[in-house]
Amino acid sequence: MLENAEIREGDVVLDVGTGDGLIGFGALEFVGGSGRVIFSDVSEDLLDECRRIADELAAADRCEFLRASADDLPLPNASVDVATTRSVLIYLMNKRPAFVELHRVLRPGGRLSIFEPINVFGNENWRERYWGLDVSPVEHLAEKVRARWKQPAEHPLLNFDERDLLRFAEEAGFAEIRMDYRAEIKQEPHWAKSWDTLKRYSGNPLDPTLEEELQATLDDDERAEFETYLREELARRPLVPMRMASVYLKAVKPEA
Ligand SMILES: C[S@@+](CC[C@H](N)C(=O)[O-])C[C@H]1O[C@@H](n2cnc3c(N)ncnc32)[C@H](O)[C@@H]1O
Repeated sequence: MLENAEIREGDVVLDVGTGDGLIGFGALEFVGGSGRVIFSDVSEDLLDECRRIADELAAADRCEFLRASADDLPLPNASVDVATTRSVLIYLMNKRPAFVELHRVLRPGGRLSIFEPINVFGNENWRERYWGLDVSPVEHLAEKVRARWKQPAEHPLLNFDERDLLRFAEEAGFAEIRMDYRAEIKQEPHWAKSWDTLKRYSGNPLDPTLEEELQATLDDDERAEFETYLREELARRPLVPMRMASVYLKAVKPEA
């Protein structure tokens, strides 16, 4: 991402959805003594964590902290040289306005560098299973749970693919757009080592945990049957199929 951003000494870099500053602090190394990084997020707690790290690095004078949503940036037009955003647009139901904002705040010649997972890849296979697990022997229960799942178009993590991101960038006015798409299909040990871990998982801060989901969809007996099956299946299968895709997008705002 930082390579795609082509950061130069003296640049002003805006990292949108900075989290605890993985990309922002990386960018700080490239802007030199005369540049600065704007750490931006919707979470004040995460901005506080970035402030703490900036102090620890004795770099606070080159850092700014901005509470803002990616689709509504309180920054003047053409005020930053580089904008970065990593794994953030997936949380926006509507991604297009974020591209418009990123284009607006970049100066002509400014660079945009994005990384996003493309979760819709493999979603069909995902829906056949339950969090990667083969549920065909308890399909009657799995079907009840899935009936409550949002359709991909209604879910921010699933309502877009790589072509949408490319189109949003182009329609916002970026030129010289390059996208690198990576898809992987592999067999791996399940990332959740046990059902007790998996049941506390939520795919999105706005989604229920799996435990809450089962509570809402199955009665006590059904839940006991489904949970017992999942617990055993997780222990039984050394490897589960994984399908993952992601993109790196680099775009330049044309010179006026
Ligand atoms: C998966 S984390 C990525 C953090 C960081 N970019 C990284 O790569 O380590 C997603 C971040 O996006 C932030 N976020 C969620 N919705 C947002 C929005 N509408 N605008 C800006 N940031 C948002 C969250 O607070 C969180 O810090």
